[in-house]
Amino acid sequence: MLRVLFVCLGNICRSPAAEAIMQTKLEETGLEAQIQCDSAGTGAYHIGEKADRRMILHARKRGYDITSIARQVEAHDFKEFDYLIAMDQANYGVLTTMAGDRLHATEIQTMTKFCSKPGNHEVPDPYYGGDDGFENVLDILEDACSGLITFLQAKLN
Ligand code: 4NP
Repeated sequence: MLRVLFVCLGNICRSPAAEAIMQTKLEETGLEAQIQCDSAGTGAYHIGEKADRRMILHARKRGYDITSIARQVEAHDFKEFDYLIAMDQANYGVLTTMAGDRLHATEIQTMTKFCSKPGNHEVPDPYYGGDDGFENVLDILEDACSGLITFLQAKLN
C-alpha cells in the first residue's frame, strides 16, 4: 500500500483536481486498493470549503468528480503519507520547511517531475485567471498523474 498526498495552496483548485484525476486513473488501472490518495493545502484560507466551482465544472467536463473538502497540511501527514506532492515551488518550500531536519518516511516531490511533456516546472495557480488556466491545470495534471502511476507501480513491484 502506498499513500500519496497532493498539496497546493488553498486545497480548492489544483490538489483536489489532482486527487480526482488520480483516483479515476487508479480505478481504471485496478490499483485503487494498492495506492490511496488525498489532498491538502499549505494555507488555511479555505478550510472546510468545497472545491472551487470553476474547477469542479472544468473537471466534470472531462469526467472527473471532485468531492474533496479543503483541509490544511498537518504534522501527522508526514508520518501517514509515503509521498507529498507539491503543485508549485512555493508549496514545495513550505513542505520542506515543515519537514525540517527530522527524519520522515515521506518523500516530498513536485508534481511536474512526473510529466512526460517538457516545459512545465509548476502547476500554475488558476485562482485569479480565466477558463484557460483551469484547462491548462487539467492538461498538466492528467499527464503528471499518468507518470506518477507508472512511478508508483514500479515502487509496488
Ligand atoms: P489552489 O488555488 O492552491 O490550487 O487551491 C488557490 C486557491 C485560493 C487561493 C489561491 C490559490 N487564495 O488566495 O485564496
